[in-house]
Amino acid sequence: MSFATLVRHVAGLHDRLVNATDRVLVYGATGHTGRFVVDELLRRDLVPVLAGRSAERLAAVPPRHAALDRVVVGLKDPGRLRGAVAGAAAVINCAGPFLDTALPLARAAVEAGAHYLDVTAEQPVVQAVYRDLDGLARTAGVAVVPAMAFYGGLADLLVTAALEGGSQADEVEVAVGLDRWWPTAGTRATGARNTSTRLVIRDGELAALEDPAPAGTWHYPPPLGNQPVVQLPFSEVVTIARHLEVGELRSHLNTAPLDDLHDATTPAPTATDEDGRSAQRFVVDVVVRRGADARRRCATGRDIYAVTAPIVVEGAARLLDGRHRGAGAAAPGEAFDAADVLTALETAGAITVR
Ligand SMILES: NC(=O)c1ccc[n+]([C@@H]2O[C@H](COP(=O)([O-])OP(=O)(O)OC[C@H]3O[C@@H](n4cnc5c(N)ncnc54)[C@H](OP(=O)(O)O)[C@@H]3O)[C@@H](O)[C@H]2O)c1
Repeated sequence: MSFATLVRHVAGLHDRLVNATDRVLVYGATGHTGRFVVDELLRRDLVPVLAGRSAERLAAVPPRHAALDRVVVGLKDPGRLRGAVAGAAAVINCAGPFLDTALPLARAAVEAGAHYLDVTAEQPVVQAVYRDLDGLARTAGVAVVPAMAFYGGLADLLVTAALEGGSQADEVEVAVGLDRWWPTAGTRATGARNTSTRLVIRDGELAALEDPAPAGTWHYPPPLGNQPVVQLPFSEVVTIARHLEVGELRSHLNTAPLDDLHDATTPAPTATDEDGRSAQRFVVDVVVRRGADARRRCATGRDIYAVTAPIVVEGAARLLDGRHRGAGAAAPGEAFDAADVLTALETAGAITVR
């Protein structure tokens, strides 16, 4: 065992003794994504505590979650929220729009001495969490990792892994490709709530996306192939800017799933396998250029909501066992060993990485 690995193990042991629990509070456990997250925690022998604002909705969780501890708590009373978090080693926030939920819950987690993760795709949320909670989290000795999810985290991990330990790139392109999109109510509410100007990285700085957003064609790997795309950046821009020095960053999404999203009659996702996943297929394709060197990493898989669960629970597991950078607010690829996380996700069958 290397010295660095030994230090990580000792830090992990220390964290476990301090927290003395594998309890993970899942806020928004009543939602579509929250349910996948609860199942994934159970699969990994962690102890989910179901939390949400509505007693009625929490009482209606699936029978397989009925025996789990539950806590009904809104976000308006910081004292009650802190009390609800007490005893949990980590909080996973699945309740969106995160513009309404992330800051009060993340603050309560930090003040109660628990790690915090969420699955936000909203850029201003990640900016606010980094701005307001980094110092408090360092003082409290806990980690705060927003955007540990399909949108945001997965691209951040792929770009970090492509750099193989480097921290600088002249140009990064992120292209998400979906064969279709069955949006949840939470996705629709979040899109309506988040009216902020989207950010890209231009000349090394966060800058407003051009209006209208530039369009083009992206050459996805099979089965998507060539697709019309439009620039549509999510939280990966803010997470990447947090820990990597990037000259230009552009994020694209193919237009076919956007048509589904913009059609009010498109239904919510339905389960088509025993794990509850829909038939939706995704690709996250990143290209990182440094001088003449260009590297590409590509993750493929099924159901953007379902895959968010192994991503965020992998993060939670690493926060609990000490395999993370330490206290403070951090991007996924900054908090964790990105290549190792991607390997773990691939080994678990959540994604395929090329
Ligand atoms: N970054 C990504 O790749 C990614 C992946 C999956 C999901 N997400 C995001 O995660 C969020 C949830 O998505 P979903 O698919 O799970 O949606 P959903 O099925 O509609 O569930 C929404 C959840 O959020 C809770 N909630 C909403 N507003 C709240 C508030 N103000 N206070 C307390 N709880 C609140 C709901 O509680 P009630 O049951 O009490 O209404 C419910 O548990 C959305 O913002 C979505 O965009 C992001």
